Amino acid sequence: MTTATESIRQPATRAPNRQQNPPEALSCCSTFYEQDWVRNLAEDIFHPGGEDLTRRTIAAMDLPAHATVTDLGCGTGTTALMLARDFDLQVTGVDLSAANIERAIERSDTNSAAVRFIQADAKKLPFEDNEFDGILAECSFSLFADQPAVLAEMKRVLKPGGSLAITDMAFGGPLPADIAEVISPWTCLVDAKDQQTYATGFAAAGFEIQVIADESASLTNLIQLLKRKLLLLGAGGVLAGGSMPTFDLATIKYWLDRFQAEVEKGTIRYLRFNLQSP
Ligand SMILES: C[S@@+](CC[C@H](N)C(=O)[O-])C[C@H]1O[C@@H](n2cnc3c(N)ncnc32)[C@H](O)[C@@H]1O
Repeated sequence: MTTATESIRQPATRAPNRQQNPPEALSCCSTFYEQDWVRNLAEDIFHPGGEDLTRRTIAAMDLPAHATVTDLGCGTGTTALMLARDFDLQVTGVDLSAANIERAIERSDTNSAAVRFIQADAKKLPFEDNEFDGILAECSFSLFADQPAVLAEMKRVLKPGGSLAITDMAFGGPLPADIAEVISPWTCLVDAKDQQTYATGFAAAGFEIQVIADESASLTNLIQLLKRKLLLLGAGGVLAGGSMPTFDLATIKYWLDRFQAEVEKGTIRYLRFNLQSP
């Protein structure tokens, strides 16, 4: 007989599994974030904190007018388009996913010379040395398969004195086994680190750390938002545009509550790093 606990062990749909797929084919959850139902759920903003956190992150980067900025792991371009529109910056969005780049270009104002989108792997950027004043990576760094290689590329394409901002998931302690098994493949937790390990990696790559800010409250807000949206989805698939997998709402609510409990304990965190290339 299946107990109530057993019946909620597995989500109704599963994210890609790193162990079962070759790294290049899996592309670090890229295929997960390409799906229409994921886009509809997230409204094309795939990071905790949304536009508010992006604006604070950019303010802390203290970029000059007309600065050149690349958004690495730009998804479908929401942040890049906003930066080009509202911040007087020259923005290049980069993503591994061809589908995301296609969607970002569709969403662009074709008359704007302030933004462009390029499909590329963050560990092999098609840019000159010292090309950018700033680099932004929102909820994408932890998905990059070879983080030291990506940091070396970031250092190479950033001008001396340039600004690097990374917002991402982090651990504040060991992740409980149930969460690690079931939830982490759905989020940016795949290769997330604790704060000190991130900081050590950034310093080893030659970056100076200016600010480390705890943005974990944005995770709680995101979980509440997802719960509200999933209720709407359950009420008729309003947001899903026909591509929604079969959700078991009770299962998903259970895991969102588990996730929230770990956020409250400080096991799962969201951090902002503002760094500088000397
Ligand atoms: C959680 S989404 C964040 C998207 C966007 N930064 C945002 O906040 O809306 C992570 C993105 O990183 C991209 N990505 C993963 N690995 C990558 C890589 N090696 N190079 C470039 N982009 C990558 C994925 O395709 C996905 O669009």
